[in-house]
Amino acid sequence: MTDQSSASGVYTASADFIAKAHVDAAGYARMYEASVTDPDAFWAEQAQRLDWITSFSKVKNTNFDYGNVSIKWFEDGTLNVSANCIDRHMLTRADQTAIIWEPDSPSTPAQHITYRQLLENTSRMANVLKAHGVTKGDRVVLYLPMIPEAAYAMLACARIGAIHSVVFAGFSPDALANRINDSEAKVVITADFAPRGGKKTALKSNTDKALFDCSDKVKCLVVKHTGDQTTWIDGRDVDVKAEMAAAKPYCPYVEVGAEDPLFILYTSGSTGRPKGVVHTSGGYLVYASLTHQYTFDYHDGDVFWCTADVGWVTGHSYIIYGPLANGATTVMFEGVPTYPDAGRFWEVCAKHKVNQFYTAPTAIRSLMGLGTEWVEKHDLSSLKLLGSVGEPINPEAWNWYNTHVGKGKCPIVDTFWQTETGGHLITPLPGAIAQKPGAATKPFFGIKPVVLDPANAEVQTNTAAEGVLCIADAWPGMMRTLWGDHERFQEAYFAQYRGYYFTGDGCRRDADGDYWITGRVDDVINVSGHRMGTAEVESALVAHEAVAEAAVVGYPHDIKGQGIYAYVTLMNGIDPTDSLRKELEAWVRTEIGPIAKPDLIQWAPGLPKTRSGKIMRRILRKIAENDFGALGDTSTLADPSVVDDLIENRMNRG
Ligand code: PRX
Repeated sequence: MTDQSSASGVYTASADFIAKAHVDAAGYARMYEASVTDPDAFWAEQAQRLDWITSFSKVKNTNFDYGNVSIKWFEDGTLNVSANCIDRHMLTRADQTAIIWEPDSPSTPAQHITYRQLLENTSRMANVLKAHGVTKGDRVVLYLPMIPEAAYAMLACARIGAIHSVVFAGFSPDALANRINDSEAKVVITADFAPRGGKKTALKSNTDKALFDCSDKVKCLVVKHTGDQTTWIDGRDVDVKAEMAAAKPYCPYVEVGAEDPLFILYTSGSTGRPKGVVHTSGGYLVYASLTHQYTFDYHDGDVFWCTADVGWVTGHSYIIYGPLANGATTVMFEGVPTYPDAGRFWEVCAKHKVNQFYTAPTAIRSLMGLGTEWVEKHDLSSLKLLGSVGEPINPEAWNWYNTHVGKGKCPIVDTFWQTETGGHLITPLPGAIAQKPGAATKPFFGIKPVVLDPANAEVQTNTAAEGVLCIADAWPGMMRTLWGDHERFQEAYFAQYRGYYFTGDGCRRDADGDYWITGRVDDVINVSGHRMGTAEVESALVAHEAVAEAAVVGYPHDIKGQGIYAYVTLMNGIDPTDSLRKELEAWVRTEIGPIAKPDLIQWAPGLPKTRSGKIMRRILRKIAENDFGALGDTSTLADPSVVDDLIENRMNRG
């Protein structure tokens, strides 16, 4: 393979790569044009990539008008998602590996699960769920490590028309209980322990704690994964592996409507409790599989590895649904990049001859600091393409990734998207679009990005523009609603900029029409590629008896992208000590999960508030960024002197 060519910060895939790619520049231009000028015709054709039970007569039926937002695709079609990801491959690839499972420890053997085995295991799991009364439309919460059973469980739900809601195994019992209750789940599927990086998280014990706050009717299906001892409540707890072994090896799939929900995934918003994003069956699968094929230039026989956890949307769309719908071989990794050493990712790439590798900038940044010898030790010649997701990738990380991992031969796709969007929105299709380190570049088929001026909501018509990023029309993979709260859905995404879907991100469009995502413009922060609502961390902090008030903001962090900076006002008479600081950190870990632990806690005798009592976060952000020279107008503050104290005692002096 020849090198990518580069000129003044712009990189183009090699001629070889372009010649073999699904689309080149002209192909992209043609398909993109078709997708936005006649979406009905374009998506009717793309939807043929799936097997439909009843074909649809109607393609797009969508409305972005605030008050009447409604999104339906292929609405009278019926299908089954599990059948599309498994059964239809039986004739042509039953003995091909569907999932390569790589365990936490390299000394445990990997598993190669064929499509035939995937059908059997998914069927057995589906039969277990049915035996416990789960039927079409019921909710099933998954709180699992990255083990094959997580894939079986997701696909088993899809098979019987149940709606899964995967909760990241790093979340706390409280967070799990909230999600079980909000979705009114009938069953939770968990494991005894989750091994990760040589440590074990006690998932069953977390689930026990969560279930104290849930209805007694919720069944607890436990995968005995490590085999370590756990508590057991007869009548409630079920040994999944034993029941799977005894269950019938085939389960017929049910017919579901294209608009029947496939899953709920909770994500952080700028206000209140996490939002239950709802994705449906037909449109989501068309979009996940199409983006998987084109963005990663996936070809039959390739081995694809997305390092995300199935607890996030990236794992849903690009470990499970997109790749399996395409009949791919997809790698599922239980571990972390630095265990047992900093060469683990590259060892796995070499071992399984990975062709496309997709990870987050935070992982790249953490590995960069540990030296290139860890990469050089392993044979990465199978790699054809690299991907990035979750946050803007800084040029240093991009260059390191390109030089040391891709050896200058692999296009890098910087994929911008969200839990809500189901699949990629803006990304360079590798054979078609030139890459610029740090730019997500051009929209995927069917996506109409617009840049609005946040001051007056006007659409910026010049090519070079800066503002907030909205999308002007619907695409099949987008969420349909928030679970049980269509009003909140409209408020969160369609109220601020009427007629548009508001991403919550700021962006810049350069003179070539390439999009650069500049980060969230709301009170959501992005910590190691994970979304966290500042309000969630604040409400966890104020739930502690020593805390009177708390305000949380993000600040630039070398590895994590953004760190969590908390200003805390203590109750009268409570001493601000180091041990209290540690106690609050531990408190947030148990209230939400380790990913929400504040990096810095500043004791704040007072918070900067307007006379009407509103906290001026702009000032808090500036101080957290160590950029207090530019605080702007502070004259509207009720007590401007609090600012001096905050500056003097700031925690980030980097
Ligand atoms: O701010 C954007 C950032 O991640 C947010 C979405 O987070 P989440 O729903 O957790 O999904 C993450 C994985 C899809 C976005 O609003 N983001 C995601 N990808 C990128 C990004 N920011 C810049 N560049 C990206 N490639």
